[in-house]
Formats: sequence, structure tokens, C-alpha cells
Amino acid sequence: MLNLVIFGPPGSGKGTQSAKIAEKYRITHLSTGDLLRQEVEHDTPLGKEIRKYIDKGLLVPDEIVLREIKQQINGQEGIPGFIFDGFPRTINQAEAFDRMLDQNDTPLCLVISVEVEEEELFNRLMGRSEDSGRSDDSDEIIKRRLKVYKEQTFPLISYYKAQGKIATIKGMDPVEQVFGKICHAIDTYLCSRKVLPVVY
Ligand code: AP5
Ligand code: MG
Repeated sequence: MLNLVIFGPPGSGKGTQSAKIAEKYRITHLSTGDLLRQEVEHDTPLGKEIRKYIDKGLLVPDEIVLREIKQQINGQEGIPGFIFDGFPRTINQAEAFDRMLDQNDTPLCLVISVEVEEEELFNRLMGRSEDSGRSDDSDEIIKRRLKVYKEQTFPLISYYKAQGKIATIKGMDPVEQVFGKICHAIDTYLCSRKVLPVVY
């Protein structure tokens, strides 16, 4: 089973690249942002709770996110794999995720870490804000999301480096070039079952 995580700050291209990876490697794209936004759209009590966090640019509590992920991956034995987009985002989520994957005997193969400069991230998200319809794509909230990433999510790089699972991708290039580098990292893993500690 090919289990991949795409990791990076808001606007680094996780969603854009995940769609392409899912199509090429025939794996399922699981975006916690999309799952949570669906709950918000349904306007259930849970959706209302989630909205409070998303609209402020804060992380949704781990227990809610972990429940969503469990629902998605359990009972899906036999499928070729997943690309997890926007998850995990805290050390607590990463540890719980490791336990879940262990129980299912489907370990995480590779964490694709996409690096983009902060000014470019801000410009991309402001550019997208005109037609994204996302409540969190506004000047102040984008800044908050970038801050939350640095404080709560960035430390996961060390967590996965220690496991030898990080492939670092420079994400400032056009979409197709970034995708080419990601495919190179995935194909290298598939050939050797090893993650090379290089920057693509
Ligand atoms: P989430 O939906 O995950 O959003 P995000 O991480 O803030 O990132 P984005 O989706 O905005 O950007 P992206 O990296 O996917 O880039 P994209 O491809 O869209 O999370 C939203 C919220 O949900 C969180 O704030 C939190 O509240 C909650 N949440 C989600 N997961 C959670 C979790 N695990 N725990 C707790 N809370 C959670 O690209 C961005 C733009 O750039 C697009 O316009 C695109 O066309 C463009 N672009 C992409 N690549 C390139 C390129 N190479 N060159 C030029 N432009 C590009
Ligand atoms: Mg996204």
C-alpha cells in the first residue's frame, strides 16, 4: 500500500499536487481541510463547532480531526493507498496516526515536504481569495494560518526526519516542475523502498 503525506505551509500547493499524485499513482486523495469544510457546509452542530476554528485560521481540535481520518481509512483494506493532504498537523496527530497505521499494518512510506518562501505563499493565497470562496482566505486570517503553521506544524519535520521519511521538494517552480520532482521522489522510493535525504 502506498501511503504518502504531503506536508507544507498554507499555499505551498498541497491540494494542487495531491490531485495530480492521486491520478498518476491511483491512490485516494484525503484532505482534512476539504473534509472539515464539508462538515461546515452541512451546518451540523459539529460543522458549527469546526467553523469557529477554520474562520479564525486556527487548528481544529485533534480529536475531531482524528475521528474524521479514522472514518476514512478504516474498512478500506485492499485499496492501493492514500495521499494525506494537510494531515497530520500536530505532533499529537502524528503519533496517533502512526498508531492507527500500525494497527492496520499499513505503514507510512514517504512524507513529501514542499518548501515555498513566505512572501510567495501570501501572494498565492491572496490571489486565490478572489474566487476560492474560502472563509479563511483573507489578509489577516492568511497571516494567522502562516503563524499557526510555523508554531504547531513545522516541528513535524524533525519528527519525520527522525523516522527517515522526509523528501524535501523546492516548491517555488511552476506546478508541472514541482510535480516532476515529487514523482522523482516517489519513484525513487518505489524502486528502492528508501527515502533519500536529498532536496529535489
Ligand atoms: P487546509 O485546507 O489544509 O488549508 P492550508 O493548509 O491552509 O492550505 P491551502 O489549502 O490553502 O493551500 P495548499 O497547500 O493546499 O495549496 P493549493 O494547492 O491550494 O486547512 C484549512 C483549515 O482547516 C486549517 O486552517 C484548519 O483550521 C483546518 N484543518 C485542516 N487540516 C487540519 C488538521 N490536520 N488539524 C487541525 N485543523 C485542520 O495552492 C494555493 C494556490 O497557489 C492556488 O491558487 C494554486 O493554484 C496556486 N499554486 C499551487 N502551486 C503553485 C505553483 N507551483 N506555482 C504558482 N501557484 C501555485
Ligand atoms: Mg489545500
